[in-house]
Amino acid sequence: MSLSVIILAAGQGTRMRSALPKVLHPLGGSPLLQHVIHTAKQLQPSGIHVVYGHGGEQVRDALAHENVNWVLQDQQLGTGHAVDQAMPSVPDDDTLLILYGDVPLIRPETLARLVAQARGGSLSVLTATLDNPFGYGRMIRDSNGKLTGIVEQKDASEEQLAIREINSGFLAAPAASLRGWLNQLDNSNAQGEYYLTDVIAMAAAQGIPVDSASADDEYEILGVNDRVQLATLERIYQRRQAEQLMRNGATLADPARLDVRGEVTTGNDCYIDINAVFEGTVTLGERVRIGPNCCIKNATIGDDVQVFANCVIEDGVIGKLSRIGPFARIRPETELAEQVHVGNFVEIKKSRIATGSKVNHLSYIGDTHMGAGVNVGAGTITCNYDGAYKHLTEIGDNVFIGSDTQLVAPVRVGDGATIGAGSTITRDVPPEKLVLSRSPQQTRSGWKRPVKKTD
Ligand code: UD1
Ligand code: CA
Repeated sequence: MSLSVIILAAGQGTRMRSALPKVLHPLGGSPLLQHVIHTAKQLQPSGIHVVYGHGGEQVRDALAHENVNWVLQDQQLGTGHAVDQAMPSVPDDDTLLILYGDVPLIRPETLARLVAQARGGSLSVLTATLDNPFGYGRMIRDSNGKLTGIVEQKDASEEQLAIREINSGFLAAPAASLRGWLNQLDNSNAQGEYYLTDVIAMAAAQGIPVDSASADDEYEILGVNDRVQLATLERIYQRRQAEQLMRNGATLADPARLDVRGEVTTGNDCYIDINAVFEGTVTLGERVRIGPNCCIKNATIGDDVQVFANCVIEDGVIGKLSRIGPFARIRPETELAEQVHVGNFVEIKKSRIATGSKVNHLSYIGDTHMGAGVNVGAGTITCNYDGAYKHLTEIGDNVFIGSDTQLVAPVRVGDGATIGAGSTITRDVPPEKLVLSRSPQQTRSGWKRPVKKTD
């Protein structure tokens, strides 16, 4: 029996006080709604229908790459009305599951339980028992404990307000049944809305079994209404990422001081010090050590690499046994082979550096192909930009570049060449030769340093 999923995402989100629609606010680096779509996909539904609101084109545009059916709910007349907008696209034979674009931490395992109950012919609701049920719909049960309805906070009597079992909003049902109930909804209630929750009483009245299920973790049903709740969910999400890394064999200096905004894969025995921020797709090999305060985005880092404190790495490949930093910046399109050393205050951009080469201090290497076993002295700069175009610097194997050298690209340095310190290299350097461009040192006798007059 196939599954249809409807995700409600038409709410205004006014309490965010934001130009950005609520469901586009990021959690772990991607929009709230993206998380919900991702979770829905894990249930392998035949269709995902996202109900978005008037002016929500921004939402559609941001997630245009997702293979979902966008359904406009022009006016927000209530959750029942919202679901109804998508019903024309839902086949009668399907089981239907309702999700929320602003409740991002729900787990597929929990939803699978709801779906299984609905496949058995029930209307199934995800509930929770809270110490403070304020604001939620309350679950109404008869003397036998059977669910007979849901009453919204604003419609509830004193007695009903004391009920601590609440409606999470998540619900699954046979699509044909739900369609019938939605057609009978009215809005004669405190909020003048078409309440999805009214279908529970309809099912119960028809003798259709109403089941409830609960989530394993309380946070699964938490929604985002303002930025305080967003921050709470962000920390829960990050804790989950940290636990996954630890279970996969990484040691974290402090699981509370790690942020994953994407996907991180780690080999065994990695060590990640405090304040690491990972973005995009990051792959760490075995025994990689990441020092404190590093930002690493879309990078592949080989076995036994050490990244020391305060490094920024973006779109790079770092070969095994390499050492980076402290205070190094690896910019996009950089490929370091094995055992490359990049030291403090070194910036590397769009460059390939072969095995065992070292750029240890205060350098800029951009648009460069560097051979193996090269030693780049402190303060060496590739002058890759002429104000209009970028040019390539090619450095052979086993080159020794003296400190404070400028390599004015395009330029080539042959294998085994040595460049004297302080040189400005504007022409190709032949292999195996010593080349230097340096004004001769002068000694002047009889010269006196100026002295300040004293009275
Ligand atoms: C709803 C439930 C309540 C439950 C609570 C859990 C109803 C009537 N009530 O209440 O029992 O305890 O969620 O958080 O369903 N939405 C639309 N279009 C609309 C109205 C809402 O897309 O016309 C979306 C919102 O964006 C939101 C979700 O539906 O994601 C829930 O709407 P909201 O107004 O927050 O419902 P609650 O009053 O919190
Ligand atoms: Ca809500």
